[in-house]
Amino acid sequence: MLSKVEEIRKSALAACAQARSVKELEQARVQFLGKKGELTQLLRSTGQLPPEERPRFGKLVNEVRDELEAAWVEREQQLFREEEERRLAAEALDITLPGRPIARGSVHPITRVIEETKAIFMHMGYEVVEGPEVEWDYYNFEALNIPPDHPARDMQDTFFITEQLLLRSQTSPVQIRVMENRQPPIRILAPGKVYRADSDITHSPMFHQIEGLVVDRGITFADLKGTLELFARRMFGAKTKIRLRPSYFPFTEPSAEVDVSCIMCGGTGCRVCKDTGWLEILGSGMVDPRVLKGVGYDPREVSGFAFGMGVERIAMLKYGVNDIRLFFENDVRFLRQFGSQGGRLC
Ligand code: DAH
Repeated sequence: MLSKVEEIRKSALAACAQARSVKELEQARVQFLGKKGELTQLLRSTGQLPPEERPRFGKLVNEVRDELEAAWVEREQQLFREEEERRLAAEALDITLPGRPIARGSVHPITRVIEETKAIFMHMGYEVVEGPEVEWDYYNFEALNIPPDHPARDMQDTFFITEQLLLRSQTSPVQIRVMENRQPPIRILAPGKVYRADSDITHSPMFHQIEGLVVDRGITFADLKGTLELFARRMFGAKTKIRLRPSYFPFTEPSAEVDVSCIMCGGTGCRVCKDTGWLEILGSGMVDPRVLKGVGYDPREVSGFAFGMGVERIAMLKYGVNDIRLFFENDVRFLRQFGSQGGRLC
């Protein structure tokens, strides 16, 4: 009987050491220490021994049971640790792997030119305002001194919606809307979309203009010239010169077209400026007294200047783009060239 105890002890310790998992260990525990386990069975057979041997036997079995239970606890802890280590090793993340880059967008060149222009004029104290794209004939033409049969209407192939309603062909109607609602001094900049039935490599049926208007007491042509010179230098570089050529717009008198010295060749003549050394960038003039009267101002009291520029044209010159349609196809290979520094304008 005693040797039987030793036998069980040995095989139990061996099974304990050999268990490869917590589950296997538990199976071995049931086999030796469970209610029907080998050691328990052996204890039950105590009765078969002569009475004087029973205490020794019982003591021995209990000692072996204690020893085995301690061995199980230790082995179980060891297996838990090993399993944990295996799990962590399997789940390990390689934190040195480079991350996946998040694609960064870039500011559209048209938006860029608008934002730059706004920043330049806001530094000069201008307020940015907007007007509707669906406009009344009255604001787009009549109030700007372009009556129904005026030949100047031919210059702007307008999309009419009804007899009186149209898609604005210029941002100049915003001038009228602002003047109707306010009293001088006025200093506004009105960027926005305009529409004309025209489409080729330098014309798009939808494009952008930026309108400027200043009205106050004592505004002169010199103010117009100084303002546009400053704008040209900020927009195209400090060495840029401007040139004013007499022109005609129904809502300004006198009117001038403004050229900048060629930003490609600096004025010596090249393909971009067609060897003239100059590039036309905007129309301007002193607000016609008839326009001022029309909004209820007294032209003897106040005067003003106005200007209007095509954003696409400026962007084409500034970035050397030769086809206006590139701005609207939104091919990312084109757009990417304008950089991703969205916040840094000017
Ligand atoms: N609205 C004109 C156009 O689309 C541009 C323009 C010229 C605007 C002279 C003005 C101006 O304010 O004074 O051709």
